[in-house]
Amino acid sequence: MGKVHSFDHPLIQHKLTYIRDEKTGTKEFRELVEEVAMLMAYEITRDLPLAETTVKTPVAEAKTKVISGKKLGLVPILRAGLGMVDGILRLIPAAKVGHIGLYRDPETLQPVEYYCKLPTDVQERDLIVIDPMLATGGSAVAAISFLKDRGVRNIKLMCLIAAPEGIAAVEKEHPDVDIFVAAIDEKLNDHGYIVPGLGDAGDRLFGTK
Ligand code: PRP
Ligand code: URA
Repeated sequence: MGKVHSFDHPLIQHKLTYIRDEKTGTKEFRELVEEVAMLMAYEITRDLPLAETTVKTPVAEAKTKVISGKKLGLVPILRAGLGMVDGILRLIPAAKVGHIGLYRDPETLQPVEYYCKLPTDVQERDLIVIDPMLATGGSAVAAISFLKDRGVRNIKLMCLIAAPEGIAAVEKEHPDVDIFVAAIDEKLNDHGYIVPGLGDAGDRLFGTK
């Protein structure tokens, strides 16, 4: 079974408060989402494998370490996942970025796919699927299935806020996937929105309504 990691770092929790606040405008919301994504990326990459190497400092040779192992890929779920990409790329600039376009049908709450473009070597990469909101879990489950159908084996899921329902759905369909979140909220409302959540992540990021 995949593990659920909830980050309680004070900086993440502090910034998340202002992300949730309805008074926070688009510019600040965007900046905060990017900053929290960067802080989460720092935590998520804790288990990356290291290899020994040496460099010559101006003084002597130093035995040091560099990141080794498989290369990373980021897969934001459009649209709202885009808001987290730049923050993660600040720490992992060499990661390639694929995009999966899904929107949630407002009536059925089922994900509808409208776009996909992945790195050509996606099967050889460890992937982080990114979406600020894990609500019913339909979008994340569909995106992960889509990647597995294309031969990807090692996938992590990174979200800002998750509902218990969304976590349960991912755990059921993809028990091999670890889930990384900044907060687990109380429940979903009748429209499938996370309570208390932050509202519609895509609309708040891009200033649409
Ligand atoms: C939001 C969010 C997730 C999805 C979560 O996207 O960014 O992708 O809903 O809900 P789920 O867990 O119930 O599937 P939305 O469909 O609003 O599209 P957008 O990002 O284009 O605004
Ligand atoms: N999508 C959002 O943007 N917010 C929610 O609370 C649920 C789905």
